[in-house]
Amino acid sequence: MRYFIILSFLIFSCTSDQIKESNIDSKAQDILSQMTLDEKVGQMAQINLTVIAKGPTKWSSSFPLEIDPKKTRKALVDFKVGSVLNTINNTAQKPETWFKTISEIQKYSMDSTRMGIPIIYGIDAIHGTTYTDGATMFPQQITTAASWNEENAYNMALVCAYETRASGIPWNFSPVLDLGIDPRFPRQFETFGEDPLIVERFGKAMIRGYQGDNNDVSNKYSVAACMKHFVGYQAVISGKDRTPAYIPDNVLSEYHIEPFKKAIESGAKTVMINSGLINGVPVHADYNLMINVLRNKLGFEGVILTDWEDIRKLHDRDKVAKNQKEAIKMAINAGIDMSMVPYEYEHFIRNLKSLVEEGEVSMDRIDDAVLRILKLKLELDLFNNPVTNYEEYDDFGSKKHHQLAYKAASESITLLKNNDDILPIKGNSRILVTGPNANNMRTLNGAWTYSWQGDLTDDFAGEYNTIYEAVRNTYGSNNVRYVPGVSYRNGGSYYDMDEINIQKAVQEARRSDYIVLCLGENTYTEKPGDLNDLNIHKLQSKLAVELSKTGKPIILILNLGRPRLISDIEPLMSAVVNVYLPGNFGADALADILSGKVNPSGKLPYTYPAYPNSLLPYYYKPSEVQNNAQGAYNYVGEVNNLYDFGYGLSYSDFKYSNFAVDKDTFNLSDTLNIGVFVTNESDIDGYETVQLYSSDLYASLTPDIKRLRDYDKIHIKAGETKRLTFSLPVSELEFYNYKNEPVVEEGRFKISINDKSKEIYIK
Ligand code: BGC
Repeated sequence: MRYFIILSFLIFSCTSDQIKESNIDSKAQDILSQMTLDEKVGQMAQINLTVIAKGPTKWSSSFPLEIDPKKTRKALVDFKVGSVLNTINNTAQKPETWFKTISEIQKYSMDSTRMGIPIIYGIDAIHGTTYTDGATMFPQQITTAASWNEENAYNMALVCAYETRASGIPWNFSPVLDLGIDPRFPRQFETFGEDPLIVERFGKAMIRGYQGDNNDVSNKYSVAACMKHFVGYQAVISGKDRTPAYIPDNVLSEYHIEPFKKAIESGAKTVMINSGLINGVPVHADYNLMINVLRNKLGFEGVILTDWEDIRKLHDRDKVAKNQKEAIKMAINAGIDMSMVPYEYEHFIRNLKSLVEEGEVSMDRIDDAVLRILKLKLELDLFNNPVTNYEEYDDFGSKKHHQLAYKAASESITLLKNNDDILPIKGNSRILVTGPNANNMRTLNGAWTYSWQGDLTDDFAGEYNTIYEAVRNTYGSNNVRYVPGVSYRNGGSYYDMDEINIQKAVQEARRSDYIVLCLGENTYTEKPGDLNDLNIHKLQSKLAVELSKTGKPIILILNLGRPRLISDIEPLMSAVVNVYLPGNFGADALADILSGKVNPSGKLPYTYPAYPNSLLPYYYKPSEVQNNAQGAYNYVGEVNNLYDFGYGLSYSDFKYSNFAVDKDTFNLSDTLNIGVFVTNESDIDGYETVQLYSSDLYASLTPDIKRLRDYDKIHIKAGETKRLTFSLPVSELEFYNYKNEPVVEEGRFKISINDKSKEIYIK
């Protein structure tokens, strides 16, 4: 009986999903069949909110936010624009303001147009609902990846979907599925790091959090996700934002496309295109990537959105289109469905219309794009529920949500050095907290926090604790002193710094038992975050060196979006803790780790480089190996990193034993069964992330030194031993060969976990 019920439930839910889908399909077809060309091309334009808000220009609005009836009528009624994004003046708004604004906008598009099609509002809510005052700000993606626990990514997306809907917004430009392989790139913090498997697993978890278990985004707690930036965005030559990348097809397939493939299989509704260029082709004009790969090979059926002004850039920046009209023709014919214009929408709409009339863009292409946009709007139930109401979201900014953000931070913070077990710091110690990152909320959160560049965070997040405040709350005001030493310059570019009072910090250090030195970066993203020198700012090194002369133990807290070079000062530090960008509850989590209330369990999701000319992910090729002490060219040394990918200490001591793989020889259709014992040899309970790697020893294309194939984060009590098993299908040892085909070639492989390994043979 039970089986019958389960079976009928499965049949019912399967058919009801199918019925829903075909209903949406036929409704969208029906609407499309009644639309004029003007109405269709309007749907394909997305404008910035400032364009229709009261204010002096298209770029800046007056405050408080008010919709300008004349501008709105022109855009939404006369030009029939289908989508709006962003906030005004780069500033977070209250949920009630969002509700009022979007309700008003929907009135224009639904009540004053012939077809009554609602607009779809989109926003960047990438580690919490960025542009809403009072939203729960989680750690950034890079931090969350360091927890090696996808549940944290899921929680972040779940809460973010809820709070984004509480702000009346149904579409989120997240998650970032770019590979964070370059520490110079100004958006590495927006990624899940350098490993494709981690990006894939965490990306999938976020799609599930945003869109719900069954991708039913009509649910008022779910939003449509937008994977970005398809594809290869961060693998550039110069390390700078939106600059050329040169990526062979097999490398794109193996490392960059895979996470998108898995997100598409998970049902991701929309995608945003890479704003840069690959092999000389701007991705927004790349038919091969958008149609052959994204649509035909990966089977993506959702909406393809441009990034900011990227059709314009085909002419203005990349010089592949002679004029704006040609740029529009190129991008739409290459597969773009919606253009984030976002200012000069009249030109886009008029030009696109004439291109259709002149036969340069086919009506079929327009219908294809508009159908996808209509379906998305129907799936989100915008025709019935054009705006969700903040009053129905009691959990917005709640304690429950805050706790999930704290949990993510506490599982991510990574202990990189702990000489003589200097940490945890005992109670009643006298502590100096110093450095430019010690006493502000801005640097803890990074960009995309209350504003694009994150520069307004301290105005919005005053109620949460800075590192200094959290340490003071833990150890008491009598024991904790704060002297900045150096600070970021207000109003300057993000890397400008000023010396404030290094000597005062040194004096205070002499009176202290411990120095908690908080260094790192100020907030940035995109072009403003481009970097010319990966070394940490010289004033920060100076502060570290001067403090070290006191002989007092220094605990270095790294608060940064990318691993800045610290090799000169690291030997002077007794302990190093990487908090990355841990969000509004990151300092509380850090204080709990410093005091020992929480046992650290984060592991690096990227390689921490030691030198500016050695910037490689952990899956480098054998020829990258540096000469070692035994002599040149024997390729048995290692590349020189400060800390390796996957590295992170705990207050517990874990020991690995009894590593075994079930056979020596495997067929292509076999599965490897791998087992290992892990013992917690300390008297402190802790979490360990067990990482399974494979190395293809010889292959037709030079193999990577190693690749992560699986991992599991487990809790092991003091003194306890746990046995872990992994099942690894041989097919997962594949790589993409020179013909861009996935293959597993016959030969020897090494399977390893921690310091244990075994060679096997695949035939
Ligand atoms: C960024 C995107 C973002 C978009 C909308 C662009 O400049 O590259 O990641 O989603 O702006 O704000």
